[in-house]
Amino acid sequence: MGRLQHGLWIIPVLLAVLTVGVFAPANMQADGHARVSPQPTPTPTPEYDPNAACVACHSIPGRTLPLPSGEALSLVIDYDAYKQSVHGQKDIPCTGCHTNIIDYPHPDITAYDHRDFQLERYTICRECHPDQYEATLDSMHATALAGGNRDAAICTDCHGSHDISDPHTPRHRISLTCSKCHAAIFAQYKESVHGAALLEESNPDVPTCIDCHGVHSIHDPTTARFRLTSPEMCGKCHSDEERMAKYGISTQVFDTYVAEFHGTTVTLFERESPDQPVNTAVCYDCHGIHNIKFVNDPDATVVKEHLLETCRRCHPDADANFPTAWVSHYIPDPEHNPLVYYINLFYAIVIPLTIGGMLAFNSLDLIHRIVRRRRKGHEPGQEVKDNE
Ligand code: HEC
Ligand code: HEC
Ligand code: HEC
Ligand code: HEC
Ligand code: HEC
Ligand code: HEC
Ligand code: HEC
Ligand code: HEC
Ligand code: HEC
Repeated sequence: MGRLQHGLWIIPVLLAVLTVGVFAPANMQADGHARVSPQPTPTPTPEYDPNAACVACHSIPGRTLPLPSGEALSLVIDYDAYKQSVHGQKDIPCTGCHTNIIDYPHPDITAYDHRDFQLERYTICRECHPDQYEATLDSMHATALAGGNRDAAICTDCHGSHDISDPHTPRHRISLTCSKCHAAIFAQYKESVHGAALLEESNPDVPTCIDCHGVHSIHDPTTARFRLTSPEMCGKCHSDEERMAKYGISTQVFDTYVAEFHGTTVTLFERESPDQPVNTAVCYDCHGIHNIKFVNDPDATVVKEHLLETCRRCHPDADANFPTAWVSHYIPDPEHNPLVYYINLFYAIVIPLTIGGMLAFNSLDLIHRIVRRRRKGHEPGQEVKDNE
């Protein structure tokens, strides 16, 4: 308290002045309005605002509190913004969050600097949002925080504290929230096929940061498990017929991936030992992660000019013909992979024919035997004659 002692006497005075100064004119206005209106309307009774006392002191412009670190903590609250916020609209009072403050003087401040101040206070969100709070506990942000990284995101970094609004409207707001701290990744994402569509057209079909990472329970994206399950993460949209039809993108990419060398290995490992590191290619080894481009974009990692480079990251000895020896995402057809196509076709015709032929032969034979046996049963002794 010592640091403010010399000025304390002024506070009750200010409060009194402000309460009169701020609220009296408002009442008078309401009264005046009632008097000039042509029809007598009931005088609105001034609503009791439980926040009035707090706001009276906390809207004095320029007021700050010096923190031990030397930073100045602004004490000014934008009350209009508060009233517009999700909490203001539900009439949650200031003391709904500042449960330790009842009147003035307030309890002592223990924070050394501004970040300490925020870290000490955000846990109040838990009182009313226990599910989100629990979910954050095993996230990468909580892990970083526990490891001493005070910059890791807490509730108020992503949502604000006094001006909280619907976090997913408009949709591109989500990636802007993450961009506050992950600026380099956001810069790549915004130029990618997904990010450009989100930011330019507010496209609802492309992934924002949280479709791939989750929101409150963001896990480490560099683990073997994340890597092994990542084809499904891409696949949940890229095998969705309805979503992809709008963009004329093939939905076979997931199935064809699972069927080719890399995908088969990944599928096997995912099933047998999901935490085993695997060096085979997943979708983002070929397409990129935050920088995915249209496949015919000159900068795409999979465009003809760059494809060999991409394969060489893992197949250092690959020659120019290497990519052509790979079935890619195509279901083999006479144009792409004719050899595989005709071999498949050959089997597709020859195998059913062979099996069908054998089945037909065996069935005919069986029927024949049954018929013979029946007749033999009904007319004993005639078998030889009948057969002739
Ligand atoms: C008489 C003026 C006055 C009134 C009334 C007042 N405050 Fe404060 N408030 C201050 C001052 C001055 C500080 C600076 C720190 C201190 O002196 O404790 C402060 C600090 C704060 C802080 C930051 C420090 C902390 O402990 O978290 C919060 C939050 C706060 N007030 C909320 C409120 C709320 C909520 C109300 C209404 C219940 C309220 N104040 C009423 C003057 C006032
Ligand atoms: C939804 C919860 C919530 C409500 C409701 C709320 N606050 Fe806060 N307030 C916080 C949090 C959390 C902080 C800690 C600093 C931060 O993260 O911005 C804070 C900080 C403050 C501070 C310190 C200065 C600052 O901005 O950091 C003051 C003063 C304050 N609040 C006053 C108020 C007043 C006055 C009201 C009512 C009009 C109010 N608060 C309503 C959550 C809330
Ligand atoms: C006293 C209870 C209370 C506290 C404390 C509280 N909230 Fe809320 N919060 C609510 C209520 C009530 C709603 C409105 C819920 C609704 O409309 O479904 C809400 C809504 C929200 C929403 C919007 C949800 C949506 O679907 O649009 C967010 C985000 C949010 N709160 C974040 C926070 C954060 C961050 C804190 C801590 C700084 C906090 N809340 C503290 C009660 C609280
Ligand atoms: C890394 C940023 C981030 C952090 C940290 C964060 N949130 Fe959220 N939160 C979001 C985003 C983004 C959404 C929108 C989710 C969506 O669109 O599905 C959201 C949604 C919400 C909602 C709306 C209901 C829901 O689950 O969709 C509430 C309530 C909420 N958060 C509260 C909290 C609380 C309380 C904390 C702290 C314990 C917190 N958030 C921490 C980013 C964050
Ligand atoms: C307030 C700043 C801040 C915000 C906002 C924020 N983050 Fe973070 N994030 C961090 C910090 C700090 C780390 C820890 C970095 C480290 O340990 O290298 C981190 C770590 C991560 C990691 C793990 C990184 C790794 O190397 O394993 C992911 C994934 C992540 N954040 C995603 C998001 C997403 C998605 C959002 C938006 C919903 C978001 N973050 C919002 C600060 C933030
Ligand atoms: C299409 C899915 C997808 C989207 C969208 C996405 N990410 Fe990622 N992100 C990944 C994958 C996969 C990795 C793992 C990369 C690796 O193995 O190194 C990753 C890694 C990360 C990392 C940790 C590794 C690093 O490079 O530092 C952070 C932080 C991160 N993403 C943040 C974000 C943010 C912020 C956004 C939104 C602007 C976002 N991501 C959008 C899939 C995605
Ligand atoms: C070994 C590298 C490699 C892997 C792994 C890979 N792709 Fe591809 N992908 C390509 C190449 C090369 C093309 C462009 C030529 C083509 O269409 O086959 C392509 C094309 C695409 C296209 C565009 C299709 C169209 O209709 O225009 C999409 C979408 C796609 N891939 C998504 C994925 C997804 C999702 C995964 C993982 C399930 C994946 N890719 C795995 C190399 C790869
Ligand atoms: C939330 C759904 C969603 C997720 C998850 C997703 N995508 Fe996409 N992706 C889309 C949509 C929608 C488009 C088309 C955007 C457009 O044309 O504007 C697209 C476009 C693409 C393209 C460009 C195709 C072309 O026409 O050239 C590639 C390549 C691609 N995605 C790869 C991936 C990879 C790899 C992953 C996983 C790391 C992934 N996507 C995750 C929805 C998704
Ligand atoms: C992230 C590393 C990685 C990338 C990138 C990659 N591969 Fe592979 N690839 C592997 C590994 C590891 C194997 C062996 C294990 C297996 O079958 O999955 C393999 C196996 C293959 C095979 C099976 C025959 C053989 O040589 O073992 C072919 C063909 C192949 N890759 C083609 C390609 C083509 C074409 C590209 C570029 C479009 C490519 N790969 C990119 C890691 C990669």
